[in-house]
Amino acid sequence: MRIVVKVGGTVAEDIAVTTSLLQELKARAGSVVLVHGGGKAVTRISEHFGITPVFADGVRVTSPEEMELVDMVLAGRVNTELVRLAHRAGVAAVGLTGADSSMLSGQLVGDPARNRTATVARVSPEVIELVLARGLLPVIASVGIGTDGHAVNINADEVARAIAVAMAKTDPDVALCYLSDTPGVLHRDQSVIPTITTDAVERFIADGVIQGGMAAKIRSSAAAIEAGLQRVVIGGYQHSGDLEHLLNGGQGTTVTAPEKVDNRSTGRRDE
Ligand SMILES: Nc1ncnc2c1ncn2[C@@H]1O[C@H](COP(=O)(O)OP(=O)(O)OP(=O)(O)O)[C@@H](O)[C@H]1O
Ligand SMILES: [Mg+2]
Repeated sequence: MRIVVKVGGTVAEDIAVTTSLLQELKARAGSVVLVHGGGKAVTRISEHFGITPVFADGVRVTSPEEMELVDMVLAGRVNTELVRLAHRAGVAAVGLTGADSSMLSGQLVGDPARNRTATVARVSPEVIELVLARGLLPVIASVGIGTDGHAVNINADEVARAIAVAMAKTDPDVALCYLSDTPGVLHRDQSVIPTITTDAVERFIADGVIQGGMAAKIRSSAAAIEAGLQRVVIGGYQHSGDLEHLLNGGQGTTVTAPEKVDNRSTGRRDE
């Protein structure tokens, strides 16, 4: 199984936790891709420079000025720090952005003069495959090249989804794992929802149970399942082994197609 792991900014900032994760990834070198966000770090820097961050449906609206900061923080600081942390954990990593080898082509979602946020128009996974073939860990920042040839900011959850789906075209056995600052998708009472079917996603958002960054993440998860991915999980990371537990459904939230749940219950009735 190959795995695309996406770490949220706050997870990546916790050195002890990220080191444990990288150590767990070491055993899977050559089969794991690490995608990172860094939204909270971008917000800190933006506010420092007097820019008030704007979000729509949990996704940043990126002014051209803020785009420069997104490049600096994600491609510069967060990506390079993760590669150094991997080095210290004994993992040989290669830092990449979506600009490298035109990996991520972005479709701008609004007026390009005002908003550099894009959706993924095309993924060229060749450079990722090259790095994996050498047994190295690709660490990918979620900035790419717009269809106008200039910098774009793409929500990192969407980047992870698009990369996983692109990789699954050559070998369908790809899992997508979102690691965030929450133990999973939470109910109102803060308990973890163990399984969410894709047809329930919009209802959870409309009801206000799932909001902001998690709404973006659960929509990316549902899109990944609808594109044919077999396994999509959302959870936290605290200790070595947590990735394994998430992948086998022991913790966190598993997102699945409705028919899969139906099949399982049919199976139980037949027993
Ligand atoms: N039902 C919910 N369950 C869990 N988290 C939720 C829920 N509704 C909203 N959230 C929020 O979503 C946040 C996670 O999304 P967020 O975009 O902030 O982080 P990330 O995607 O892991 O990091 P980054 O955006 O830096 O890549 C949580 O910290 C929480 O505040
Ligand atoms: Mg996010």
